[in-house]
Amino acid sequence: MIPRMRANFGVADLVRAERDALRSDGRPVLIDYIRAATQAPYVVLAPSGRASITVLIEALGCTRVILPAYTCKSVVEAVLVAGAAPINIAVNAHYQMDLKAVANAAGPGVMIVLTHQFGLITDPRPYRKIADQSGAVLIEDAAAAFGGTWGGHPLGAHSDAVLYSFDATKIIHTPVKGGCITMASAEVYDAVQAQMTLVTQEQTCFDRVKYFAIGVLYGLLANPVIYGLFHFIFFRLRGRVTSEDSVVRTARNALFRLNISSAQAHLLIPQVDALPSIRQKRRALYAAYWEVLREGGHDETPADLQDGDIPTRFAFALSGDRQTFLNKALKKGMDFGTAFSHIAADHNFQTEHSVANRIVNAPLYPRLTPKERDRIIAFLRSSAKTEGY
Ligand SMILES: Cc1ncc(COP(=O)(O)O)c(C=O)c1O
Repeated sequence: MIPRMRANFGVADLVRAERDALRSDGRPVLIDYIRAATQAPYVVLAPSGRASITVLIEALGCTRVILPAYTCKSVVEAVLVAGAAPINIAVNAHYQMDLKAVANAAGPGVMIVLTHQFGLITDPRPYRKIADQSGAVLIEDAAAAFGGTWGGHPLGAHSDAVLYSFDATKIIHTPVKGGCITMASAEVYDAVQAQMTLVTQEQTCFDRVKYFAIGVLYGLLANPVIYGLFHFIFFRLRGRVTSEDSVVRTARNALFRLNISSAQAHLLIPQVDALPSIRQKRRALYAAYWEVLREGGHDETPADLQDGDIPTRFAFALSGDRQTFLNKALKKGMDFGTAFSHIAADHNFQTEHSVANRIVNAPLYPRLTPKERDRIIAFLRSSAKTEGY
């Protein structure tokens, strides 16, 4: 079965990273690589994307946080962990917040979270204007957009900080998670670094063994046969299509506390190095899928790629029944994802909940083989008429 996601690394890469970690601390080197890739003067490594959001809120002293009503539930969790109040804002078909509503809610002590959802880059300039006029802080949630650019330049030129996630569904990844924050201001950096040091700790030996074991599992799941077995046990037998749920968790758990280890850094370094080829492969897959949907008359998301986009997902909302679509895909030997299907916004955000109920995402990652890609394209084409997209 074609997995819904595949890590960039394999078991051999994990072993190599452990060996390298015995020789040197990979973290300063990773910071240099990220600095070069993002052209950001300052970089702070983080346990995850969500931990980056919490630390930014705490370091910059914000009490209210403006965020898209359709986004990863963990963003809301991160806001609540920091003790701040989330302000959900309705989004358009490209997951971008309604600017009038953002302007109405912005003010001193408020953080605006501009999200480059699924690696599709949003114009940051209107948000910068609102932040300047209102005294709000502007950060970019580029959890899914490592390597994205705006106007030909890496992200960050218009915001106070940018955060990235190194989760397995993102551009570069390490088990179980990782992340970083980039900044241009020394003052912001000092505050963020101090807060990150305060709330995080080194992984214990047990944590490192656990992360390694989970990494081995990720590596093995790249194999279609092993993945098929995993899918049967983990999803099919339990009658589930996603590991997401609707519980909003507010505890500062390990994903907020455990900093990136040296071995994780060594695993990430070659991936940062490979960013141009990762970008090119992801964009090519996205463009090929989009061509099929366009021919099928799909008029909701997605859209033509812009120059700066680095897609992590090819996500689209079905007009037909999602379960029927997913079952048909499984019969054809491919596992579509359903992210994000549980959002934290209340039910007044009907459009966003409707998208959450209808969204699917096609397997899209650099290690997809040309044969697998062609099978997915053939499936998308054959189901375009029956599934209504
Ligand atoms: C837009 C967005 N922000 C933040 C996060 C949180 O990242 P992490 O899972 O590394 O905590 C995610 C994860 O899916 C995300 O998609």
